[in-house]
Amino acid sequence: MLETPLLRFLSQTHDALIALRDGEVPSYIPELAKADPDQFGIALATIDGHVYEVGDTQVPFTIQSISKAVVFALALDTIGAERVETAIGVEPSGDAFNSIRLTPDNRPFNAMVNSGAIACCGLIADALGAEAFPLIAATLGRFAGRTLDADEAVFVSERSTGDRNRAIAYLLRNYGGIRGTVDEVLDIYFRQCSLLVTARDLAVMGATFANHGVNPVTGEVVASPYAIARTLAVMSSSGMYDFAGEWIYRVGVPAKSGVGGGILAALPAQLGLGTFSPRLDAHGNSVRGIRTCELMSEAFDLHML
Ligand code: DON
Repeated sequence: MLETPLLRFLSQTHDALIALRDGEVPSYIPELAKADPDQFGIALATIDGHVYEVGDTQVPFTIQSISKAVVFALALDTIGAERVETAIGVEPSGDAFNSIRLTPDNRPFNAMVNSGAIACCGLIADALGAEAFPLIAATLGRFAGRTLDADEAVFVSERSTGDRNRAIAYLLRNYGGIRGTVDEVLDIYFRQCSLLVTARDLAVMGATFANHGVNPVTGEVVASPYAIARTLAVMSSSGMYDFAGEWIYRVGVPAKSGVGGGILAALPAQLGLGTFSPRLDAHGNSVRGIRTCELMSEAFDLHML
């Protein structure tokens, strides 16, 4: 690829941050602990479909919580905003991603934390039955511009250790937030979290968000402008969990992280950014990913405000 100033910057950032070894690879999903902690990839996709990448941008890892953003957009489009917005709030929780705490009226705080994402799966399962997971996987694939496979070992590992999510799902079911059985709904949620993506995929998905729901590489319309705008809004306030305030203050770009080590950031009308580095901080966000986005935001004045 032709060397451009942008590519040079990505390369310098990659070189500068490779020495950063803070954070831990998560082990609460035992299979995730097997990740190579040193891998590091940075990819950037523009809304005219150019992709720039350095490092381990073709290495597959599980999408985990980043899927929550796309699935919320899918729920808004397929189930209808009114129903989704009645069932799931849009306030930051101020708690960890796996918090069991619900709002005073017993709803998930937002769709970016586990309770909200599980409720989203429940709504889609109610409406579509056995077609729910195939549609979720296909939609994530349309955002990425290719078919995504699941990591069966991570799926089984999370299902066999996911009692905290089971507790959240039972609580939601108790309040009518999900109607299907806990196992049915969590099967969809765990499968969605186990889909494999690369940093390049995350950049293209981010660019699809930035491009108001049109994948800039494939040209496909994958979500409505309404669903994209509302999802970006919730990503802004809650995408980085209890670091969300600090993130939007410092980086100023809507984003979503996952415990697989990925971060997707989307600057409306401009670009998508995808990073992959498995070591996480105490909030569950990739340490190098956060630093990369901070440096990018500063260097290219990406802060949206
Ligand atoms: O439910 C879980 O705990 C995982 N499948 C996803 C959590 C996650 O990615 C939070 N991200 N930082």
